[in-house]
Amino acid sequence: MTTAPNVSVFRRKEDACRQLALDVAGLIESINASGRPAVLGLATGSTPIPFYKALIELHQAGKVSFQQVITFNLDEYLGLPREHPESYWSFMHRQLFDHIDIPADHIHLPRGIVDDVPAHCREYEQAIADAGGIDFQLLGIGRTGHIGFNEPGSPRDSRTREIHLDPITRQDAAPAFGGLDQVPTSAITMGCGTILAARRIALLAFGSHKAAIVKDALQGPITDQVSASFLQEHPDANFYLDQEASAEL
Ligand code: GLP
Repeated sequence: MTTAPNVSVFRRKEDACRQLALDVAGLIESINASGRPAVLGLATGSTPIPFYKALIELHQAGKVSFQQVITFNLDEYLGLPREHPESYWSFMHRQLFDHIDIPADHIHLPRGIVDDVPAHCREYEQAIADAGGIDFQLLGIGRTGHIGFNEPGSPRDSRTREIHLDPITRQDAAPAFGGLDQVPTSAITMGCGTILAARRIALLAFGSHKAAIVKDALQGPITDQVSASFLQEHPDANFYLDQEASAEL
């Protein structure tokens, strides 16, 4: 069954992120009120930074606590130790975890340095299941249409696994790494199936460079060539866009 995702267009990305932060704070509160922790799936990239800033502001204003929150990040570069400044572990601590009251043992990211990758991926899926599944999954979108690092060709039912990064994705990451040759060639990512199992999903996209892929994701065919197009089949997928990213809809 195809259900159209909800699309909200904001004048500025800060407005979109503030609204989403309020929505997520409300969700955490209502899930905690039912007597269980809220399970959040989190994303990296430049796009969610204003969202994390807004969440930190709500926390500092006493409006949300993360003591009863469990997080699972979408992905991590293979080959990077946690301490590497471009690891997603470092990114998440810098942008969010160091500024909120989440217990350290509630935080989960795939490991970048791991002996047995398939076993680690199975353990990651099991940890999500043991937490009760993901209540809310945050997503950005890559120029290849990827969610997490589910590059073109990722099956609809794929689960957490190793993925070879698309050349466009590595090019986009090159400035942060100080050159293309420094960018890892592979990553561990939650699969499309892992992401689609989340009960609620929000995809953030800002800027004119995302307009074409946002159109493909929302209005193009549902295809494994654009993994974000699978969101058209999710019952509670919500796109938070700025005017530039929505320009081709
Ligand atoms: C990386 C991340 C994605 C993210 C994408 C877009 O590939 N793995 O989760 O959506 O970058 O990044 P940005 O938000 O910087 O455009």
